[in-house]
Amino acid sequence: MSPELEKALAPAKLNGLELRNRIIRAATFEGKTPRGIPTPELIDFHRAPCEGGVAMTTIGYCATEPDGRIHEDMILVNESVRPQLSTLLETLQATGAKVSGQLGHCGHFSKNKKLQRLKRPLGPSRHFNNLGLMVGRPFAGAMSEKDIELFVQSYFDTAAFMKELGFDALEIHFGHGYGLSQFISPLTNRRSDKYGGSIENRMRVPLRCYEAVRKAVGEDFPILGKQSMFDGVRGGLKEPEALIVAQMLDQAGIDALITSAGTSSYNPMPMVRGKSLAPGIIKTAPNAVAKTFLKYLAPKMFRDVPYKELYLLDGHKRFRDNVKNAKMVYIGGCHTTESVEEVMRAGVDFIQIARALIKDPNMVNNMRSQQGEYRNGCTHCNYCLTSIDLPGGVHCELNDPKGLAAIDV
Ligand SMILES: Cc1cc2nc3c(=O)[nH]c(=O)nc-3n(C[C@H](O)[C@H](O)[C@H](O)COP(=O)(O)O)c2cc1C
Repeated sequence: MSPELEKALAPAKLNGLELRNRIIRAATFEGKTPRGIPTPELIDFHRAPCEGGVAMTTIGYCATEPDGRIHEDMILVNESVRPQLSTLLETLQATGAKVSGQLGHCGHFSKNKKLQRLKRPLGPSRHFNNLGLMVGRPFAGAMSEKDIELFVQSYFDTAAFMKELGFDALEIHFGHGYGLSQFISPLTNRRSDKYGGSIENRMRVPLRCYEAVRKAVGEDFPILGKQSMFDGVRGGLKEPEALIVAQMLDQAGIDALITSAGTSSYNPMPMVRGKSLAPGIIKTAPNAVAKTFLKYLAPKMFRDVPYKELYLLDGHKRFRDNVKNAKMVYIGGCHTTESVEEVMRAGVDFIQIARALIKDPNMVNNMRSQQGEYRNGCTHCNYCLTSIDLPGGVHCELNDPKGLAAIDV
């Protein structure tokens, strides 16, 4: 085995947490939580990569409040689902893997028909809510000071609850066009108070949320942060300011930084590359009106972007060079043994993997036994991403063909 692969597969520590290797299953919201309730299917979906050797799995998109969910079938993280979450943790931790939970809030990007606390989705500034069009809620409002206090408090409460439940780590979502990223991005934050304007002001709410989570879990509990290195949208966040974001989170004491890219709201392709999401999104549209609308819009929004391994590595290195203390986590097309070796050679601390572990949950064990001979088989068709809203949720069409690929758009 090469020294780099050996390093990737050897134990490592993240703020005191012992991980059995350096490969972490990335957050992928799976659509396996109807009415917000975690199901045995969700547990099985994560158990497979845990049994397949990953050091830690990440439960994607654990919203900090019910109204922070993009829609009402996203996972609830509160007392009402304590038994299901406890079973999930017990089952996954029994495999020897650790379990992280991704803390997210959708801000203005919502198609949630059953808002509980809010009357309409709120972000930093009033904004067109393209996703809300599908449910007749095309406009989102701006948070008042009081809304911001409640928003920050929701991070504290959820983090405290998740730590008490037994999660091993938490990952705060600062990227992809969701709530905190809406504060960071100049495109979506047009506030003129102390929370808008300069990058320092736009980071006030994200930093307050980080501090709230840190206060809730204590100094010796691992907190990771996932940020976008750029939004990939005109007027959005660009690398020079994203580097400042990384430095500010590092100075605040975050334990690890995951460097992703793009926004789910306007341009998710930099995040994943590969085949356009448009055909799948059109196929899975909830009704005829949405389908007609998406047939026009989706091909313009989501284009094929040639996939290449390690498509975010050059950018990641520039972030690594600007971060002093936080561990660095690479994400983005690390799907071969050679790529794992290259990332280790670049001195990166951990690797997160999403699609390749959906294709082959046994990837880590297979890499260990097959080394350079290992072939994953993910074609980056991105069907998994568009299966989120289908009955049963995310699946790999190559492993589990449900005939959807054959449906005409
Ligand atoms: C089905 C699916 C769901 C995803 N859901 C999330 C999510 O909930 N939170 C998140 O931060 N990223 C999400 N992502 C993005 C991945 O975490 C990751 O950044 C991206 O897929 C690139 O990594 P990969 O090349 O290893 O797939 C999702 C990706 C997929 C394929």
